[in-house]
Amino acid sequence: MQIQKTWWKESVVYQIYPRSFYDSNGDGIGDLRGIIQKLDYLTDLGVDVIWLCPVYRSPNDDNGYDISDYQDIMPEFGTLADWEELLAQMHQRGIKLIMDLVVNHTSDEHPWFVESRKSKDNPYRDYYIWRSRKDGREPNNWASLFGGSAWQYDEATDEYYLHLFTKKQVDLNWENPKLRADIYAMMRWWLDKGIDGFRMDVINMISKAPDLPDAPTVTGDRYQYGGQYFINGPRLREFLAEMKREVLSKYDIVTVGEMPMVTTEHGIAITHAETGHLNMVFQFEHMNIDEDPSAALSRRSIWPWQLRDLKRIMTQWQNDLADKGWNSQYLSNHDMPRAVSRFGDDGQYRVESAKLLATFLHMLQGTPYIYQGEEIGMTNVKFPSIEDYRDVETRNFYREFVEENHGNPEAVMQIIHAKSRDNARTPLQWNASEQAGFTSGTPWIQVNPNYTTINVERDRADSNSIFAYYQELIRLRKTNPVIIYGKYHLILDDDPAIYAFTRTLDRDRLLVILNFTKTNPVFVLPDHLSTTDPVLLIANYPVDATKELQKITLQPFEARVYRLS
Ligand code: NOJ
Repeated sequence: MQIQKTWWKESVVYQIYPRSFYDSNGDGIGDLRGIIQKLDYLTDLGVDVIWLCPVYRSPNDDNGYDISDYQDIMPEFGTLADWEELLAQMHQRGIKLIMDLVVNHTSDEHPWFVESRKSKDNPYRDYYIWRSRKDGREPNNWASLFGGSAWQYDEATDEYYLHLFTKKQVDLNWENPKLRADIYAMMRWWLDKGIDGFRMDVINMISKAPDLPDAPTVTGDRYQYGGQYFINGPRLREFLAEMKREVLSKYDIVTVGEMPMVTTEHGIAITHAETGHLNMVFQFEHMNIDEDPSAALSRRSIWPWQLRDLKRIMTQWQNDLADKGWNSQYLSNHDMPRAVSRFGDDGQYRVESAKLLATFLHMLQGTPYIYQGEEIGMTNVKFPSIEDYRDVETRNFYREFVEENHGNPEAVMQIIHAKSRDNARTPLQWNASEQAGFTSGTPWIQVNPNYTTINVERDRADSNSIFAYYQELIRLRKTNPVIIYGKYHLILDDDPAIYAFTRTLDRDRLLVILNFTKTNPVFVLPDHLSTTDPVLLIANYPVDATKELQKITLQPFEARVYRLS
């Protein structure tokens, strides 16, 4: 199948976590007017699309991923009028907007749930998943992904409701056609306002196995991970096909489904250009390479990762989806540690390794997603006390292990320092002034103390900065179709330090060489690529053009891209 050309394959997406982006009114919380004020910054960076994390009305049990009104804006972020202005200002600059669509669950404060819990015969009862007690306990043994049971007892009707995340994030019952129709109407309402797409939160969890069976007992815990019964469930594809028919197919938009536990087989089925339902998925396989394989819940372990695993996973996604579906590329987001701290080096080689990761992200086939702050190499943070953390998942983890199971607080803090979602949620570091120039007030979460050296203002003043390097990568994408549409081919498959591959489109071929280590491995050009006239496209160290490409001793975290002719 010939790859079809579309704008969303050619775009670069920038993800904004509004709470931490820029505060325009001094209340310590980032807001929509703050984003408007910084749009020129994003135009300068060169991105085409913004994915905005949830800005809907929400009690913020999980920072907006618990929505109480899908058709209004969270007052801390502004008003619907501010949002309209943001969209207009973005479109004026040629930037498109992807909104976050969180429809696996709502807040327990959503009017649907307020009604639903009132009585068993309430018209909204079936909007959620209610079950009665079984053998004197919860309806099944599923663990919530944020710890504890996935069921919450509700006295009013003497039944339990299902919540795969916190007990204030209540799972919707997608089996109910009325609920589905309401969701589609809400989606059309936003699309008719002119938005350009949706990022769909845990969208592969909307179909649950109908009899909600107990999960197999794998750990000694009271509650067990039941993913096999609610991830990629029996009716998922049917629901997505309906959503496509009813809504998505009527607009020229981009859709990306967040999908934990997807394989390339699912990836192809979901994103297939002709028979699929969405344009891209966020897969998680590369995000799991530093998790203890026996741990049921993510972000609760530290595990040394191997470059070979990264190569194997990314290569499989590149090859399996090529010519069939389409990949998204990301190395961090608001749920993940900072990429440079996780896959690079946030000490001596911070700048070099941030540029290496950027090269990797942009040179793979797929649409790149840059998470705010990544473009200046922001790092993880090590807050000394659990009290400094704001993330509900992090706090639950600490409580369970330290307070309920008497675990070692230092060991847990070590994991939190490496994996907490708050690593990515500290305010964007705009300059070296107080609170990193993010707010004139007190920020909702502390700024990373390294803001005096790592900040936008400083990067913008340096032509050799990480920011400048991202600009150049984005510019190259616009002028070299091979970066977008070229076929990927891995070389040096087993090299433990160097990740190298080619991209080929017709007669145009790029060679990407990435040293993922602090060491100095030697790159040897495979014979079949030997060329008389390689042209350097981009590199993160000065390159001596007189030296042969046949054999190069790489610098720590060195990245180079050549055009071979
Ligand atoms: C995935 C979101 O990215 C995350 O932030 C959220 O906590 C869960 N889904 C639940 O909505």
